[in-house]
Amino acid sequence: RNIVLAVNKMDLVGYDQAVFDKIVADYAAFAQSIGISAFTPIPISGFKGDNITARSDNTPWYQGPTLMAHLESVEVDATTAAAKPFRMPVQWVNRPNLDFRGFAGLIASGSVKPGDAVRVLPSGKTSTISRIVTLDGDLDEAIAGQSVTLCFADEIDCSRGDVIAVADNPPEVSSQFEATIVWMDDEAMLPGRPYWLKIGTQSVSATVQAPKYVVNVNTMEHLAAKTLDLNAIGVAELATDKPITFEPYADNRTLGGFILIDKISNRTVAAGMLHFSLRRAQNVHWQATDIGREAHAALKNQLPRILWFTGLSGSGKSTIANEVEKRLALMNRHTFLLDGDNIRHGLNKDLGFTEADRIENIRRVGEVAKLMADAGLIVLTAFISPFRAEREMVREMLPDGEFIEIFVDTPLEVAEARDVKGLYKKARSGALKNFTGIDSPYEAPTSPEIRVNTVEMTPEEAAEHIIRKIMPLK
Ligand code: ADX
Repeated sequence: RNIVLAVNKMDLVGYDQAVFDKIVADYAAFAQSIGISAFTPIPISGFKGDNITARSDNTPWYQGPTLMAHLESVEVDATTAAAKPFRMPVQWVNRPNLDFRGFAGLIASGSVKPGDAVRVLPSGKTSTISRIVTLDGDLDEAIAGQSVTLCFADEIDCSRGDVIAVADNPPEVSSQFEATIVWMDDEAMLPGRPYWLKIGTQSVSATVQAPKYVVNVNTMEHLAAKTLDLNAIGVAELATDKPITFEPYADNRTLGGFILIDKISNRTVAAGMLHFSLRRAQNVHWQATDIGREAHAALKNQLPRILWFTGLSGSGKSTIANEVEKRLALMNRHTFLLDGDNIRHGLNKDLGFTEADRIENIRRVGEVAKLMADAGLIVLTAFISPFRAEREMVREMLPDGEFIEIFVDTPLEVAEARDVKGLYKKARSGALKNFTGIDSPYEAPTSPEIRVNTVEMTPEEAAEHIIRKIMPLK
């Protein structure tokens, strides 16, 4: 939080104070516009060594510190961090035997003593510190910047990713935020695409909405934008799939700074700063109901499943899904078929075929399919669903084993030769843009639960094959 404005190459302007003052004034105006009120300007010459370690005779008009003296004396983060409320993200749980259980981590802010009342977030459970353990023995106090193992007086749940904080002044827990995001990847941000978000020792799945604005770094102007491209800095709303413990970045860098990681490539695609939690997240709570998903399924005497058909347009998804549903109905199973072309006439009629719209299409279909599975149904979905990331997102929304990915594997040439709706012809002629397989990608499943080859099998055979794989379902 300390800024040094080292004005270099003063030797090239004859150590002219007027030039220095002008640069400092220009910088001050810029700094003001981005909320920086204080900085330490130092005229230097890296080449000649002026004002680096010793005060220079060439700048008699400068009375301030040398660069090194300033760097050595400036009050660093740890000192200011120690004065803040106590917070420690848990890095790992130390349990060498049944008599010892400690929580290891780096103290992000504040200080802690044995006897202090603490709270574990996000659960909110409280206890008191019984010991502060380090390799060099127990401590009477530990402060920000130290790595320690904390022991509790009570056996309360606490695991990696949790945050231990002072009991009466804990950080907030939320799942929806406004944030500043710096995009660092060649591939632009995709609104709605789930990325891994890492903050402190917590890792969750997160989606970012289209930015409210991006910042022109030269003029500080706010500009409208649909996405964030390489090097763009923007402000956007983001949502995590689980609540996270956080503080605004301005108060706590450890609990307010995050990175986003692409789930497929594992690349770090962005860095960001949380501003605040959105109020709507604080006022919406999950409502527990008495008749739960097990009861719904038991009444129907079946196990809920989502049979997720994916494949190119014209691959045969709808036809095969329809055959499977007929067979399930004959076996008295309660089913529902969600079909791309149909859903796009109603719920999703506001969506087109850009990447962002397809992501939103699949997100909504995933949520609807999940509700239907909660209602105890066997749900069949027939959507191209061209992106791995969104298919995985739906899989993660459901209990293990409930999502069954069925790859309707039809080569492009075959689907194009069939061209049931005449769309491939239109796409080839350029009359239809963003068509899957032509000028929009299709990412085939790498390990689907079921794969059907429609070149070798008729739709009826494919349906039989699927039924055999998914039975008995109770
Ligand atoms: S998805 O990509 O978002 O999963 P979805 O399955 O809902 O697509 O819709 C695909 C159907 O929309 C196709 O079967 C086709 O009939 C129609 N369609 C219209 N335009 C396109 C397009 N550009 N790309 C793919 N399908 C399109």
